[in-house]
Amino acid sequence: MKGVILAGGLGTRLHPLTKITNKHLLPIYDKPMVYYPIQSLVNAGVTDIMIVTGGKKPGEFLSLIGNGADFGLKHINYTYQRGEGGIAEALDLAEHWAAGEPICVVLGDNLIEKNIAKAVADFRAQGRGAKIMLKEVHDPERFGVAELDGERVVAIEEKPKAPKTNLAVIGIYMYDARVFDVIKTLEPSGRGELEITDVNNWYIKDGSMTYEVLDGWWTDAGTFDSMLRAAQLVAEGGANRMDGA
Ligand code: G1P
Repeated sequence: MKGVILAGGLGTRLHPLTKITNKHLLPIYDKPMVYYPIQSLVNAGVTDIMIVTGGKKPGEFLSLIGNGADFGLKHINYTYQRGEGGIAEALDLAEHWAAGEPICVVLGDNLIEKNIAKAVADFRAQGRGAKIMLKEVHDPERFGVAELDGERVVAIEEKPKAPKTNLAVIGIYMYDARVFDVIKTLEPSGRGELEITDVNNWYIKDGSMTYEVLDGWWTDAGTFDSMLRAAQLVAEGGANRMDGA
């Protein structure tokens, strides 16, 4: 399995912090934001990684991360997304590199406490389709929200005004190689982006979507409040630690 970290976008919700740099280079407590999703993948044993960056200061990713030595890696891959066409458009840039292998996609502003190695192993065993990870939250209207019927996810709504559950779809997704064909069928949403939620709903209709509820804390860091919360959680509890625990 290969890993893709999506670290593009213009980060407009964090203006003026993101007027001169990329959101994912901003600090979360003692590390740049993008360090956390890289560590999440490495801890789960996914070490062949592509970073999709974009917007301002793409060269700073190279200066900061280089070939991934801080994570015990010998090599890391980079590509560049022009503009802000959405998560699914950014992911599409990894098609050539993925070369038919299954992928684990992590949004560059998502931080988790614990190791997702078990979910990755379960998806490897699943063999085809997709897997999402869910977490109970108090503000589901900010996220993709999953509706369940027993052990099945039956639909995901992107930022619903009246969420049917409090189960947020977190920014860690696993897909088989068909994901790139699915992306090519998408139309831009109301916010002008190709939505990852549309990709996930395709796999739900296909009958090949599974889910796991995440153990430990999770937060995004794309708004001032969530960025502050992320820093507090890291300071108090140590996100996806460098020792892989
Ligand atoms: C994106 C996804 C959303 C998901 C969230 C997780 O939202 O569209 O479904 O729940 O990431 O962080 P965005 O941050 O682009 O608003």
